[in-house]
Amino acid sequence: MVKSDSWWKGAVIYQLIPRSFADGNGDGIGDLQGLTSRMSYLRWLGVEAIWLTPIYPSPLQDGGYDITDFENIHPELGDLAAFHRLLTVAHGKGIKVIVDLVLNHTSDLHPWFQRARWAPKGSPERDVYVWSDDPNRYADAPVLFRNFESSNWEWDEVAEQYYLHRFLRHQPDLNYENPWVQEQMLGVVDFWLERGVDGFRLDAVPFLFEAEGSRCEGLPETHAFLRKVRERVEANPRDVLLLAEAIQPVEEAAPYLADNELHGAFNFALTAHLFAAIASGSSKGLRKCLKDTQNVSPQNCWALPLRNHDELWLGDGHLVPDAVIEAIRTGLHQGHGHWLNWGINRRLAPLLNGDPRANRVMHALVYSLPGMPCLYYGDELGMGDWPGLRDRDPNRTPMAWTSARNGGFSSAPDPLLVLPPITAPGYDYRVVNVEVQKQLPGSLLNWHRRMLTCRRLLSALRIGDFELLDSSHPSVIVFSRCSESMTVLVAANLSAAGASLRLNLNRWAGARTREVLWGCEYPAAGEDWFVYLPSYGFSWWLIGEVEDSVNNPIDHFDDVK
Ligand code: GLC
Ligand code: CA
Repeated sequence: MVKSDSWWKGAVIYQLIPRSFADGNGDGIGDLQGLTSRMSYLRWLGVEAIWLTPIYPSPLQDGGYDITDFENIHPELGDLAAFHRLLTVAHGKGIKVIVDLVLNHTSDLHPWFQRARWAPKGSPERDVYVWSDDPNRYADAPVLFRNFESSNWEWDEVAEQYYLHRFLRHQPDLNYENPWVQEQMLGVVDFWLERGVDGFRLDAVPFLFEAEGSRCEGLPETHAFLRKVRERVEANPRDVLLLAEAIQPVEEAAPYLADNELHGAFNFALTAHLFAAIASGSSKGLRKCLKDTQNVSPQNCWALPLRNHDELWLGDGHLVPDAVIEAIRTGLHQGHGHWLNWGINRRLAPLLNGDPRANRVMHALVYSLPGMPCLYYGDELGMGDWPGLRDRDPNRTPMAWTSARNGGFSSAPDPLLVLPPITAPGYDYRVVNVEVQKQLPGSLLNWHRRMLTCRRLLSALRIGDFELLDSSHPSVIVFSRCSESMTVLVAANLSAAGASLRLNLNRWAGARTREVLWGCEYPAAGEDWFVYLPSYGFSWWLIGEVEDSVNNPIDHFDDVK
């Protein structure tokens, strides 16, 4: 059962990479101590949950998604006691903590894999991973990391067999046909539940089982195992979120959201459509994707990221139609030359050519659409990236806190830093950082905070029903969010050109109407409204009478220090 007042319904999730967020002990590497010390910032900003990319011991061939011990903390990040302190401080500030759970694979240095390759063929130890004498098995499963790998199989000299790896060759896939593997991984879930986490972001969930003649994604056995994960979570009295990373079209991602399976899933198709809309200035494809999303799953259970620690994944035509990929390819010039695997390897701000208006309208939509908005660390500042770093590191550079050395991320000498802070023109950390932007009322950072403050007060944006409305302008998307106590009308212009349009407000004729963000009273809604939205402009209108505390959300802007 989903508890009706689950904390994660409509919660804003802030994703961060602990190694890149804040360095507490001055060794150049971000850690749990550093993150804990920045919890007040996250509270000030107004996010409700943080999602930490993997914190486990790992040789870091894949940013920590290659794990050698599922029940411990990477020594560079701290230890279990530091994790406990982090949870305590976060909870004290009303912030939930979501950890990454990598079910599909381990590092090749995990003791299970080392044991498997030395164990005799066919033995229980060998059987913990997926082996084959023939590298042509499961030929219909696409190679995901195509810039790094040309096959999903790797020959192991010791085992004298091939092993399956849907990601890097350093990440052998666990064999979920083996009940022992299932039990171990359920044990990992229990372990972190007992530590008190508030949620799991389940990495790469579609790939747990394989079957010949299929893409090896979302097979019935995979869903059956995820239901077991859900049972474990249900056995815990706390309200724990299970959030799926399934980079699939909404119809294929929706089955993970069955009542007895996971609570939420990222809507990566919608993310791609948001970028296509801004790239083309047309809201048509976005509207269709929103309709499809509503049709397959009308609840507020989708998590919506703009960017994350990976490339902006667009896929091979399976996730979104080729036309959507083409619109992004031709419209977002800053993506040229930055393709990696199946997507674009840039941060949001540079991808939008540094235009803060585009940045704002994209986030405004994420904050207005149903589900859980996700904010990627640094994007609240319009932080830049370092193209040229290896793999996805361009998007994973240190958080810019101040104008001081290393952006206040670390006191270590430069060469020891986990990755170089951004000094690229236009994005230099001496200008683009938390300290500076806090002091500038019109900064992107203060804008995000204002949006999150308003959103917290507007229940309709958190849990309200979503309805797409007609728009008389191709660049403008219009929709309403209605909860029992209020209605919020949203309009957003995805084009660099201003847009004037007529809105039909028939159903609300005579109702009191206020623009929320600027606290401005409008004439009572009539039959029709003529609205002008400037370049990338958007508005939130509150329609009808509401409780006093909600009337002017902006008055509450300074409540949280
Ligand atoms: C997910 C992660 C990505 C990682 C991959 C393999 O897609 O987001 O960073 O490389 O899984 O674990
Ligand atoms: Ca450190």
